Amino acid sequence: MKPTHKLLFVLCAWLVLVFIYYASMKLHLYGLWGQKPQKVAVETSVELTKGAAVIRIAELENEINAGQIVKPVYDKQGFLLQEAKLPQELAYKYGNLSEGVCKPGYAAAKMTSIYPKFVKPAPMFLDRNFKRLAKLSNLLPPFGIKTQERIIDSILTATKYYGLGKELDRVKCKRCIIVGNGGILYNKSLGSRIDEYDVVVRLNEAPVSGYKRDVGTKTTMRITYPEGAIQKPDSYEKDSLFVFSAFKPLDFKWLRQMVFKERLRGTEGFWKSVAQYVPRDPTEMRILNPYFIYEAAFHFIGLPFNNGLMGKGNIPTLGTVAITMALHNCDEVAVAGFGYDMTSPHAPLHYYENVKMSAIKESWTHNISKEKEFLRKLVKANVITDLTKGI
Ligand SMILES: *[C@@H]1O[C@H](CO)[C@@H](O)[C@H](O)[C@H]1NC(C)=O
Ligand SMILES: *[C@@H]1O[C@H](CO)[C@@H](O)[C@H](O)[C@H]1NC(C)=O
Ligand SMILES: *[C@@H]1O[C@H](CO)[C@@H](O)[C@H](O)[C@H]1NC(C)=O
Repeated sequence: MKPTHKLLFVLCAWLVLVFIYYASMKLHLYGLWGQKPQKVAVETSVELTKGAAVIRIAELENEINAGQIVKPVYDKQGFLLQEAKLPQELAYKYGNLSEGVCKPGYAAAKMTSIYPKFVKPAPMFLDRNFKRLAKLSNLLPPFGIKTQERIIDSILTATKYYGLGKELDRVKCKRCIIVGNGGILYNKSLGSRIDEYDVVVRLNEAPVSGYKRDVGTKTTMRITYPEGAIQKPDSYEKDSLFVFSAFKPLDFKWLRQMVFKERLRGTEGFWKSVAQYVPRDPTEMRILNPYFIYEAAFHFIGLPFNNGLMGKGNIPTLGTVAITMALHNCDEVAVAGFGYDMTSPHAPLHYYENVKMSAIKESWTHNISKEKEFLRKLVKANVITDLTKGI
């Protein structure tokens, strides 16, 4: 072979080797960017959204230290992540009231300071103008009133009244307490403190008789759905409003039978036995505004919208619905008997029966942990006062 041929041969061999080397690199790279990158990207974006709030807070703290003006930062639901302040004139107004005096508009002002989207007007109960409540007319129960308009009309014609009652409607500054059913109320002797509130809201069948020292004697209203209603007619308190909260279309049918004192026809479709008779005059019955269920679920807690239909884990508990109602209609809001202590399985679940905490089942309808996140925001910002400190 001539030296030039030899050189060419070596060069060719070298080029082939180089080609193979780059080809394999490229394949390797393709492997890296063709499959793994997706995962890498997803992981990074998840980390970013999870970490974003934390990073922003750290940045904010730096800004505060540097004496700069701070931009507010909100979480996904629209709640302020920093500490909230009332507008100065309100802070002065409340600061100048003596201790223990009812602060007009306090709960709504506090709520607005952590949740600027809050719009206060929302009536407690449905009245004859309920069809004008735009947000309700496009959704089925429990989030709206679609398909139930006629039955609601006939119920409201019979109930005639749509407020809390003459005396309470006149009270300028109302303090409300929502009494939950939690075992945390047991043996705390909070009864007399609960009775001091203008409006005492109780839920479902939670009894008063036999537990007065712990839960008080006053019941302004009892909010109930059919399966939760007291079944023994003589266990209903006198002078209290029977407030109905619907979760299924069928519930309105039941209410009509209770209002018109008709015989209950069929109990199919209820998940447990229901009351056959409610010993209250139609004028002492109200329909809770379903807007509170809608707002609690989708605005405050952030449960899955599911096209506006009841679905897995998108129904707020009645207690949270009642708190939502109070934020719109009371000047000060307190709660007692809320919160489950999951760490002590032997603690009582309810204050009135011997069921242990460990009996609580994974709920299909509720999302207790997401709900608790919301309630914690309210307690932390002093929008509501938690007498039993279980939230
Ligand atoms: C009471 O109001 C005045 C101004 O109207 C204000 O200067 C003062 O700080 C207020 N007091 C409290 C305790 O907020
Ligand atoms: C209730 O509380 C009192 C103290 O306030 C205590 O002495 C008593 O043992 C408690 N009862 C029960 C059943 O826990
Ligand atoms: C509650 O919400 C969390 C977070 O969105 C979710 O991971 C969980 O599955 C939900 N639980 C129920 C019972 O729907």
